[in-house]
This record gives sequence, C-alpha cells and structure tokens, in this order.
Amino acid sequence: QEVLKRLYEYSDSFREKRTRQDNQWEIDQLKKAQEIVSSNPDQIQLTNQKEYEYVFDESQLVDYSESAELPGEDSATHEKPTHSDIQAVRKSLPAFKQRQSFLDVVKSNQVVIVVGETGSGKTTQLPQYLYEEGYHKRAGKQKILKIGCTQPRRVAATSVARRVAEEVGCSLGDEVGYSIRFEDQSSQVTAIKYLTDGMLLREFMTDPMLTSYSCLMIDEAHERTVSTEIVLSLLKDVIKERQDLRLIIASATINASKFSDYFNLAPIFKIPGRRFPVTIAYTKNPEANYIQAAITTVLQIHMKQELPGDILVFLTGQDEIETMEETLNEASRKLGNLIKPLIVAPIYANLPPKLQARIFEPTPYNSRKVVLATNIAETSITIDGIKFVIDTGYVKENVFNPATGMESLVVVPCSRASADQRAGRAGRVGPGKCYRLFTKWSFYNELPENGTPEILRANLSSVILLLLSIGVSDLINFDFMDPPSHQTLIRCLELLYSLGALNVKGQITETGQKMAKFPMDPMFCKAILTSVEYNVKDDILSIISMLSESSSLFYRPKDKKELADKMRERFFHEAGDHLTLLNIWHQWRDNGYSNLWCEDHFLQYRTLKKIREVRNQLEKLCQKVIPVFPVVGECTPDICSVQKALMSGFFPNIAKLSKLGNSYTLLKKNQPVYLHPSSRLFSVKPPPKYVLYHELVLTSKEYMRNCMVINETWIDELAGHYYQKQIQN
Ligand code: CDP
Ligand code: MG
Repeated sequence: QEVLKRLYEYSDSFREKRTRQDNQWEIDQLKKAQEIVSSNPDQIQLTNQKEYEYVFDESQLVDYSESAELPGEDSATHEKPTHSDIQAVRKSLPAFKQRQSFLDVVKSNQVVIVVGETGSGKTTQLPQYLYEEGYHKRAGKQKILKIGCTQPRRVAATSVARRVAEEVGCSLGDEVGYSIRFEDQSSQVTAIKYLTDGMLLREFMTDPMLTSYSCLMIDEAHERTVSTEIVLSLLKDVIKERQDLRLIIASATINASKFSDYFNLAPIFKIPGRRFPVTIAYTKNPEANYIQAAITTVLQIHMKQELPGDILVFLTGQDEIETMEETLNEASRKLGNLIKPLIVAPIYANLPPKLQARIFEPTPYNSRKVVLATNIAETSITIDGIKFVIDTGYVKENVFNPATGMESLVVVPCSRASADQRAGRAGRVGPGKCYRLFTKWSFYNELPENGTPEILRANLSSVILLLLSIGVSDLINFDFMDPPSHQTLIRCLELLYSLGALNVKGQITETGQKMAKFPMDPMFCKAILTSVEYNVKDDILSIISMLSESSSLFYRPKDKKELADKMRERFFHEAGDHLTLLNIWHQWRDNGYSNLWCEDHFLQYRTLKKIREVRNQLEKLCQKVIPVFPVVGECTPDICSVQKALMSGFFPNIAKLSKLGNSYTLLKKNQPVYLHPSSRLFSVKPPPKYVLYHELVLTSKEYMRNCMVINETWIDELAGHYYQKQIQN
C-alpha cells in the first residue's frame, strides 16, 4: 500500500509539473515538433534551442582508476571482425585479468556473488571461462551438463547468446544457445545456455533439482525481478541437495551484500571497473514534453559536438521509441547534407533480432549513431562508442494494486540509482556527457533513491500458481528476500480461487495444474481451458496470441493515413477489439499468411509472423496439456461462445458504464476507468453498458485497452461467484 501510494504520488507530482497529459497530447506535440523541423530546417538550432545548466557532479560516476585504451573498440573498422580480433577484444575486458581468480573462487565456493561495472564482461565472459574450464563435462564424456545464465530480459538473452556464439565460433543453438518464452534455440550439444529468469523458473516444474546444469549464473540480480528472486529462493534449497552445482550471482551495483547475506555470507568477487568521467547536465526548467526535448537535444548534440561520439536515449517504451525514430529520420532527411549522417537504431524488448543487431554495428566514419532504448540499455546491454546519454528520467512499470486487485502499466520517474547507471553508459570509451531532461532539484527531491523490487509491486498470481504446482504450499513462510505483503498474497490466492485453480482449502486443483503448464497469466490459461469446453479453442488461441504480442500491429504511413485508417475499419467487429483482432487473424490466414496482403492492409508482417509462432507453440502445449476434453457448449459455436470463453478467464476485468454515460467504473471496485482512444468501442454510440477489458494503462487517466462488449446476463452466469455483492445491489 505504502509503496503504491508513493508511486502514485511521484507520478502525480511529476505529471503536474511536467504537464504530461496523455498519449494523444504527446502525439500532437510531436506533430508540432515535426512541423517545425520540416518547415524551417535551417532555423532549427534557433527555434528549438534548449538551455542547459551544466552541473559538474564530481562525486558521482567519476572513476579515473583505469583509463587505458581499449583495443579493438575504436569503431572505424567496417569489415567483419576476424576470430583473432574477437579474441583480442575478449582479452581486453576487465574480467579477463580476473579469469584465474574467478575460476579459483568458484572451485572452492558453491555460491559466489560477482560484482562489476557494466561492460566488464560478466555476462559474455564468465560462462565462457567455466566452459573453457570444462564444467560442462563434469558428468563424464557422454552427458553435457549445461552452464546456464539467466537474464531478466528476452532481448538481453538473445543478443548475448548471439555474441557469445560468435566468440566461441559456433552456430547459435549448437554449443551456445538460448531459451526464451515460445522460442528455444538450444540443442543436445548446447553447453552454454542463456535463458530468461522466467524460463529457468519453469524448468523447476519438470526438473526440480535442475539436474541438467553444472553451473548457474543468475545475472542482473540487482534488477530484482520476481522470477529472479523466486529462482534464488528455490536454488537455496537445491544447492543443499546438489553439492556439485555451482551458483554465481552477478550484479552491476554494489548492493551485493544483500545477496551475500541471503546465501549464508557467500564471498563477493569484485571485477574492478573502468569508467571515464561523465559530466551531468540538468535542464533549467521542468520539461513539458520529454520526447520533444529529447529530439531537440539529439539534433543539438549532433550539430554541435565532435565526432565520433554516439548518443544513447532512454525512453519508456516501444511507442515512444517508434515516434522518435520516425521524427529523427524525417528531420535528418529534411536537413539532408546540412548535417552529417545520423543513424537511428532502436532497441526494446519486442524488436526482432535482426533489427536488434543494428545497435551493435560499428558507426561508419563521419556519422553518428543514435540508440533509442528502454531501460534495457541501463545494465543488461552494453553498446560501445556511446559518448552522450540523454535521460528522460522515466520508466514504465507494472503496478499491482492489492486493494483493487488490478494491475496497470504506469510511467513513473526512475530511481536515482537508475539515473546514475544510465549516465554511466556515457563513460565507457572516454569522457562523456549525460543530459538529464529534468531539473537538479527534481533529481534530489522527486526521484526515489532506489527502485521498488518487482515482487513488492507486481501481480504475483502467475508465480504463485507455479510455486503451488511444484509443491511449495506454505507461501506465508516461503523464504522471500523481501516478502510481499500478506494483502497481495491473499488477493492473488483469491483470484486463483475464483479462476478455479485452487480449492477452498487453498490447494491447487487439477484445473490449476493444467493452467500452470502455460507460461502466461492465469487469466489467459483459464480462457484457453474453457475454450476447449466451448469448442472454440482455435479462435481463443488466435485471439490470445494476438493479445500477448505487444509489438504494434498497425502502421500508418504519413502520406497514407486515411487509407490506412479505412483499411483498419474493414476489420472492425461490433463486439469490440478482441473480435476485431480475430477478423484480422482469419483474413491473414485465408490469404495464405502473405506478406503482400499485410502491406496492402497496413499491418506489420513481422508482428503477425511472431503471433503465428506463438500460436503454434500454444497449440502444441494444448495438445500436451488437454488432449481430450468433454465439450459442453453448443456443437456449432457462435461468437457468443468465443466471448464467453474469454470472459471465463477475464471476468475480473469488467467495467460498467457510469450513470452519466461518459465513463466507466470497475464493477468490483468503484474506480473510474475510460475506454482507450485506440479501442473500437471508443466511438460507438451509445456506449455499451458493460465492457470487458484486457489491460489498464495509466497515463493521465486509467485507460482500458482492448475492450469487448459483454452481455449483462453473462455476469451472473459466468462470474456470479466473483460479483455476488455487486449482483445483489
Ligand atoms: O555483463 P557485463 O555488463 O559485465 O558485460 P558484457 O555484456 O559481458 O559485455 C562485454 C563486452 O562485450 C562489451 O564490450 C560489449 O560491447 C560486448 N558485447 C557485444 O559486442 N555484443 C553483445 N551482444 C554483447 C556484448
Ligand atoms: Mg551483463
């Protein structure tokens, strides 16, 4: 409660100061910025000049300890690096000097905490050292015991695996592989496996003693994701049984003692950092629109600062990154040869791997690379050549409100620790600069010192179901590093109970066991299980695959906006967004999953392709988990069956039209919510009385994204147990 209150307070005060209205407002501002750029390309320096107060903050970030030249890291080379180049770079990393002492400490200790500056080689090198030492052969010649390395983020797992495969000199999926949700690039011969912490957690379901591993490195532990923390608690038990298993916990920051304490005072192994001084600049006044400010700052740096020197911008999510990418490309096209070439490279969780690789490509001579990133570039990905960092000071987080049981995506100020990590990214190749798009006052007064561990703010129902399914039933006494509040635990148990995953005694049911097999939110899992009963499994799998993919599906080219909107309307279904998505899926399928068809209809082919892969994976899982199931619904299912199956999982997300007819309130709690402007139902008149939403997004208001009309009678029929009070009223 306290944490939530704080989060909301922070985001409120920020919103007021920086008048961050809502998405639409931002988009309008961006349009204005674009217009300015396109109408007066040569005046841009004058009209958009940003004033900075340069503040030298010597206490932070400055570390002259080791400012040696970094061989192999001076960009200029265009050719593909040779094997010996790669080995030279490996040897130049700070971790290399510690190679032997690292191996020694791992040999004599079962658990080791490793701390080191970002970019020192923890993620890419340490698993390789263990591999070179032969840890994967400890079980004899026949069997390979993997060296696993977890990452909180999918992009980090895939990009690091790709890099290490290159260093080892193998194809991805052979000696070096990765495993992320719905995508496994590993094989019998894989010895070094990068995987998300969530995937390792799921491996406990099939192999509770993790017998296929000889070593595990839990990386980025400072991020304190829910999966990482649960994995650590479970490992604490595993290592007692498996004396041969080696556990390495790696973290970028210095709060290592917490991990050491948790693991019975495990030794802390330090890899000395290497960082050049970074100068910090704050804005004089609060920024009304941080995206616009970031765009101006990029252009300003590009025109005024020497080359080489790449820029890294921290934004909160894909939407912002895409808008900014478009604006910058447009601006540099308009400015033509008035400026030197500007290469814009985005990086966020859903970016296809091929495009991810662009951020690592060396910047050509006489040009500048601008990397637009989410907080993924804070510690988990190191990009060489960055000299300037632009920090918007925000981060997008999932926040669970145990009072209402609702989860929401919120943009909140990042922590001071994060801001310092971000600034540090500018000082890897030489002295750097960090432009903070907020005031110094706000840094010290409005940014929290540290972030809140995810376990204290996230919806834990999925992870609780998983724990119950592997036999951990005493959650109250479970050895959490930071235990979540009882209220949160109780809320989650209630939700699982109402979904039929638990019985009245709080024990997992057969349904619950099946639900746990799907790597998704229990609400999704329940909808899938019910869909089989209603004989609409295929449609529900399609809708769920579409909903679970967060990359954008539609695109609107500047010159063809109207046409794009018209095309989009063709898919509209009166019952709302879920069935609109289903229409899209059906038509794409009927057109042979064609790329051309996507182009004609302004849909992102690569997003649909990913959706198709997810759908295939889900289909396979279904065959395993629910091979035979009695059908209780009508034999020839209709749209209502599809809607009801969805509702069987998502019934907690129902909102009722308010008396005035201008907003909605959550049916369970009297809290106002609004239809998101992107929803099909936004423009429907009169507005439907009841809607079921897929997710809440908090900007200036609490918006419901992806909404479906529902029939009042279904509430009693399908969710009577959940809404007893509301129905009586
Ligand atoms: O984990 P840590 O932050 O300590 O460093 P790392 O991720 O192992 O990175 C070590 C070096 O590998 C850096 O110089 C990176 O630029 C490089 N690297 C790369 O070139 N491509 C990747 N996909 C990952 C790392
Ligand atoms: Mg790392």
